[in-house]
Amino acid sequence: MKRLAVILIAALLSVSQAQKLEIFSWWAGDEGPALEALVKLYKQQNPGTEVVNATVTGGSGVNARAVLKTRMLGGDPPDSFQVHAGQELIGTWVAAERMEDLSSLFEEEGLNEAFPESLLTLISTDNGTWSVPVNVHRSNVMWYVPAKLKEWGVSAPTSWDEFLQLCPTLQDKGVTPLVVAEPWTQQHLWESVALAVLGPDNYEALWSGELAFDSEEATAVWDTFGKIMDCTNDDAAGLSWQQATDRVVNGEAAFNIMGDWAAGYMTTTLGLEPETGFGWAASPGTDGNFILLADSFGLPVGAPDQDATMAWLKLVGSKEGQDTFNPLKGSISPRLDSDPSIYNAYSKSAYEDYKNDRQVGSLVHGAVANETFMSEFANVLEGYLSSGDAAQAGAAAQELATRTGIGAS
Ligand code: GAL
Repeated sequence: MKRLAVILIAALLSVSQAQKLEIFSWWAGDEGPALEALVKLYKQQNPGTEVVNATVTGGSGVNARAVLKTRMLGGDPPDSFQVHAGQELIGTWVAAERMEDLSSLFEEEGLNEAFPESLLTLISTDNGTWSVPVNVHRSNVMWYVPAKLKEWGVSAPTSWDEFLQLCPTLQDKGVTPLVVAEPWTQQHLWESVALAVLGPDNYEALWSGELAFDSEEATAVWDTFGKIMDCTNDDAAGLSWQQATDRVVNGEAAFNIMGDWAAGYMTTTLGLEPETGFGWAASPGTDGNFILLADSFGLPVGAPDQDATMAWLKLVGSKEGQDTFNPLKGSISPRLDSDPSIYNAYSKSAYEDYKNDRQVGSLVHGAVANETFMSEFANVLEGYLSSGDAAQAGAAAQELATRTGIGAS
């Protein structure tokens, strides 16, 4: 009898320990090492939980977000998923009442004091706090290889005018002046160009609804964008952001505008040293401004294993978790108690800029625009590239902004 009780208790215990955590993200392959390190730490801390690291490849989450939508709407949410702080979270999943409020976790773990106010604003509404940020990435960075620029006799341009002057010089040498890749990377370029052309006040006014996309100021962004696109490679559609970065690294292209996950790729995957292996500068015309985005994880309504997920979210927001993740990812920890000395030269400089620059939010990476605007903006951009008509693009963007409620909240 006693033996039976012992067996029963043991069985019960093992059932209660057999927790499962499914984490959903687009950090696969080359983009995987930082998440894998965090998952490893989670497993050490939670040996009884089976972790499913579910990934859908594709930069900036273009493919993952589509799969996520199907799963969420089909009542099959993962336990936790990667989502950008800002409107991708608030204007999409929170608005649809698909997320659990994490206010108690934030209180218990002291996260309201650990994160800067500006970031808390991006993940909160009056009714709650909806995800845990794991990092801060910078979008408006221009990458190059210092030795190559020297060889070609050019230096990193500080304005788009300067870049457009360099463009024929580089083309004459058989070098692509600026490499772009699949469509979202062109939208990524667009937001940096928009900031340069509009300046930070007007850039923000686009997202608050105070400046129309079909205004003269906003239409001018397309004109500059078009001239820049004339200095890019014509096989963009088939390239991933990593392949675009490779072209800079191997000297086929002079510059690339990409978020600082490119630094993570060049250091963690390619083994290059910042400053010698690659150089960087704010994308032309945006010095002193930091286009910010933050990856975060939340708890969807109906997540199968809430206990395992809460342990995950705790780790995601912790100093230990962030110090494990960020140096590999090319991002920085937004925690106020984080220690910049653990980072490489690039990320140290990003830290300084994060502290001192004017911060504005990224479009393509979900800070300022909801999911529908983000995905349909691709059509506006494609339309512009085939017609070259800035006024038409401005009108299409404004129609989209009105329809998707940009600036309405
Ligand atoms: C961003 C994301 C980054 C990085 C990048 C490229 O949207 O925030 O962490 O994954 O896409 O895929």
